This record gives sequence, structure tokens and C-alpha cells, in this order.
Amino acid sequence: SERSFVMIKPDGVSRQIVGKIISRFEERGYKLVAVKSVTPSKELAKEHYVDLAQRPFYPGLVDYITSGTPVVALVWEGKDVIRQGRRMVGATNPLQSDPGSIRGTYAVSVGRNIIHASDSFESATKEIGLWFNDKEMSSYQPTAWPWIFSDN
Ligand code: GTP
Ligand code: MG
Repeated sequence: SERSFVMIKPDGVSRQIVGKIISRFEERGYKLVAVKSVTPSKELAKEHYVDLAQRPFYPGLVDYITSGTPVVALVWEGKDVIRQGRRMVGATNPLQSDPGSIRGTYAVSVGRNIIHASDSFESATKEIGLWFNDKEMSSYQPTAWPWIFSDN
């Protein structure tokens, strides 16, 4: 099954909702493959969002991610976790985020929207490689998995 990179941004850490956000993915049935607290360098934040380098908000976005407050970097695994993770996170601008989504629960500003999730298989692969090395990734079978994932 596939893997997605999720990052709880500095506002999520500072607001002390890390556990609540992790719980949403655990409760859905996804497997936590990797987790760490990181205070990102400018270089790491710029590379993570390099596709947005030409956008007017890019410098502010890099400053936000490198505020000095840590982020929590996560890798989740399970059926459709890339697309499902994006749905759980909600629309980029909290004004459009479904009220049941993570952003729709905790955020009101696009520039303080709590969480990142990979938007495609290609970006998940790139982001997991950027934030983690292979030794940080665990391999185990959650006991509930046979009751969460079926073949159809
Ligand atoms: P990520 O999961 O963080 O990648 O967000 P996204 O995929 O929903 O949106 P996108 O990749 O287009 O933008 C990345 C991040 O840049 C957003 O999550 C916001 O934090 C920020 N951002 C995007 N658009 C704007 C904007 O118009 N203004 C500001 N201030 N920030 C923005
Ligand atoms: Mg994005």
C-alpha cells in the first residue's frame, strides 16, 4: 500500500494539537511509519516547496515553516492514503475547507493552515526522501489491519 508525507506546521505544534492530528490518522486506520520533530532549515523548507518558488507568497511561506518553532514530520501508510490524506487535511484555504477536515476544524487563514500532506505519488516519494532516510522508516503490521483493509 502507498505512503504519504504529512507535516504538522509550526502553528500546529505551537497550538499543542499534534496529538489530536496524529490521532485522526491513527483512528482512520493508517500506519505510522516514521515520525520526528524537526526545526527546518531555510534550505529544507525551500526545497520542500520548490514547486511554488515563483508564487508571491513563497518567501512568507518559507518564513512560516522556518519560524524557529519545530514541525512534526510524519509518514503514513495505507490504502489510498495520499488522496484520503488530502481529503482529511481539507482545502488549502480554510475558507473552503470542509468543516470536518483538519484545516476546517483548526484553521481560518491560508497562511496558518496547520498541516501539509503530499498531493500525488510523485510528491510523496520526493518529500519522504527529503525529510527521512531509510533507517528512520519502520516495517510492521498493525494488529487491526486485516479488519481495516479489504481487497475490494
Ligand atoms: P500544502 O499541503 O502545505 O502543500 O498545501 P496545499 O497543497 O493545500 O497548497 P499549496 O501546495 O498550493 O500551497 C502550499 C502552502 O502555501 C499552503 O498550505 C499555504 O500554507 C501556503 N499558501 C498557498 N497559497 C497561499 C496564499 O495565497 N497566501 C498565503 N499567505 N499562503 C499560501
Ligand atoms: Mg501542496
